[in-house]
Amino acid sequence: MGRSRITNTTGDVESSLFSFNRRRFFSLLAALGAGSLPTGAAETAKQGMIVRSVRPLDLEMPLDGFSTWITPIERFFVRSHHYIPKVELQEWRLDIQGEVQKQVSLTMADLEKLPQIEVVAVLECAGNGRGLYEPSMPGLQWEYGAVGNARWRGVRLADVLKLAGLKDSAREVVFDGADVPVGKMPDFQRALPLNRALHRDTLLALSMNGRPLPLEHGYPLRLVVPGWAGDCWTKWVRRINVLPQEFEGFFMKSAYRHPRNAVMPGSSVDAASMEPVTSLRVKSIIASPREGSVLGPGAARIRGVAWSGKDPVRSVEVSTDAGRTWKAARFGKEQGSYAWRLWEMEWTPPGPGYYTLMARATDSAGDTQPFVQEWNPSGYLYNAVHTIGVSVAREKDRQEPAPAVSGRGDFPPEFRRACLSCHEDDVIVQQRLTRAQWDREVDKMIRWGAPVKPETKNSIVEFLAERYGARPRKR
Ligand code: HEC
Repeated sequence: MGRSRITNTTGDVESSLFSFNRRRFFSLLAALGAGSLPTGAAETAKQGMIVRSVRPLDLEMPLDGFSTWITPIERFFVRSHHYIPKVELQEWRLDIQGEVQKQVSLTMADLEKLPQIEVVAVLECAGNGRGLYEPSMPGLQWEYGAVGNARWRGVRLADVLKLAGLKDSAREVVFDGADVPVGKMPDFQRALPLNRALHRDTLLALSMNGRPLPLEHGYPLRLVVPGWAGDCWTKWVRRINVLPQEFEGFFMKSAYRHPRNAVMPGSSVDAASMEPVTSLRVKSIIASPREGSVLGPGAARIRGVAWSGKDPVRSVEVSTDAGRTWKAARFGKEQGSYAWRLWEMEWTPPGPGYYTLMARATDSAGDTQPFVQEWNPSGYLYNAVHTIGVSVAREKDRQEPAPAVSGRGDFPPEFRRACLSCHEDDVIVQQRLTRAQWDREVDKMIRWGAPVKPETKNSIVEFLAERYGARPRKR
């Protein structure tokens, strides 16, 4: 199976994580109170999501979400580095400054007067699939669903920049959202090179799937950079700063970088040998059947979605014999330059038994998905061939995989005090890290403001390494 890991029990852990957090999660939404926010700025009640973190809010779409062309907002994944900001529309301004002819400060009404453009595009988190890498690295342990396909509508960034007029010295465009850093964490600011900023499909979106942007998706204004990873799609955009040189911020120079060339799994790579994550990679997902399902005899349908970054997906091939033979899947009719495509294939299993199913997408430039994922230190851009196992029974009864129960124990008081003020334990219990990795992770949290006394640091690291140590996840 190489590194294209087959998961069976992870989904079960997640569903129990979800029920554990559900009450807190919904009371959080209630506490935010739609009444204190202007119309259209409410958070959406999400349905059946895998909760990676309740605060900051990080939600993953389960595999069954891959069955529609447009992902409903209720099922759309959420990624937040910081807490969701308060938004007052009356006070909202978009300030444009830096290497411009004149500084401007635009209201939402000003933006609504510009030509409105619509694009259907896949938004995928750069870290989607991080949880499938071996060896594992710290970070949210996304598996498949930190991705969705939506209809974005808004104004061209180029039209907005024209209102300020770029100087010849302009090189990069930096976007700052209204989210405020947690503790001493660096502010989330990201830059686009000028040619991407001026690209005709780069938008500042005001709406998503025909509704005003929901608060958790960046209301009232977010960047849409079709074909590029989600870290470039800044939410709650308030300030645009045009620079005469490359931007040096933390989220450009340290985070969201991956090695130019393949590196040995587990090795450390310095930031200078890495480049920023930009284009998404060609990828396909099997939405149905699910890993571990028991199918009845007779015809079955294998279906899923496929997308890519630079060049459109040309084909999806499916194997039902662990990669020995392949057959082309049939595409659904919906398509768009940056949208995902639905695909399906009829399959009549030759008899009862266990089958390994794989799906592999290829783009129009011939780039295709690897069988073994090349490793990178932060676990970005995972796109190895999706592989699942199913059984075919003699009898007719089909079964979905049964959910298992996972337990979690008590936490020592010094750990609670040090680690559970900015976020819950959810971001911690999903990690599988060595002692050295935990040591670095705790140091990072101390830099961000975690109240760890020098004399308790070791015991916290020991506790974490003991309970959430590096070991293969259960299959
Ligand atoms: C001052 C606030 C704060 C405290 C206290 C804190 N953290 Fe965090 N931690 C954060 C924030 C903010 C994130 C989310 C960062 C993101 O999503 O980009 C985070 C994320 C994490 C993650 C997910 C992986 C990652 O690096 O993003 C782990 C694991 C984690 N924290 C462990 C801990 C541990 C262990 C402690 C106690 C030693 C701790 N945290 C205390 C702010 C804090």
